[in-house]
Amino acid sequence: MKKAVLVVSFGTSYAETRAVTLDAIEQDFKAAFPDCDVFSAYTSNIIRRKLKERDNLNIMSPFEALNYLQENNYDHVYVQSLHIINGYEFAKIKIALLRHKDNFKKLRVGNPLLTTHDDYFAVAKALKSKFPELAEDEAVVMMGHGTDHFANACYPALERVFRTMGDRNVYIGTVEGFPEIEHVMQELEHDKVKKVVLIPLMIVSGDHATNDLAGDDEDSWKFILEKAGYEVKLQLNGMGENEEIRQMFIKHVPRMYQ
Ligand code: CO
Repeated sequence: MKKAVLVVSFGTSYAETRAVTLDAIEQDFKAAFPDCDVFSAYTSNIIRRKLKERDNLNIMSPFEALNYLQENNYDHVYVQSLHIINGYEFAKIKIALLRHKDNFKKLRVGNPLLTTHDDYFAVAKALKSKFPELAEDEAVVMMGHGTDHFANACYPALERVFRTMGDRNVYIGTVEGFPEIEHVMQELEHDKVKKVVLIPLMIVSGDHATNDLAGDDEDSWKFILEKAGYEVKLQLNGMGENEEIRQMFIKHVPRMYQ
């Protein structure tokens, strides 16, 4: 029997954050599944192309990785998504699995981070453990990616879970979906918040965190919030740096793994 675990993320072209997030997750998987060979793949074609051209780094897509595992006679394959929501990127993994469904004795896939209700509470708790001490008029504003896929509902749902846990000073917005920063600012004003700590709600702290969240351009959240009079602090760690989040991905690997 030849067993493999394939961890599949969106990917990043930022080497520094990759080392402490995606690479750290891979290391944890190696420790958690000593009887498996651990491989990684990225769902983003743009990132893979960029890494190839810039760094001559070859990273497989999920489909290419399954081809590789088949060619190398792996018969038990467990694929784990490192995505946060069940959106378009996770669909790419499912399509790759469908195309390979008859090629392995066992081929299983683990769901993204925010899937069950328990996941939402566990993620909120894990994120909260890294929040700084907040003053009375201070709040955490997290930037999720956002999407036009219906899975975008995960972002307001996670914010709602923070409320249920008693955390009224955590706000979640998105770069490419709903709510946008303007919607978050309506809430901040209503709740008389004066200071905010910006934190990415993303596995890696890459391009969106560096530019869209913390950049100096006029469309960055930092710029927009400072212009509106808020005192802004930054905590630019990717969620992959959080051990509890990394362990959640390991727990998401299908049970029939044994
Ligand atoms: Co993006």
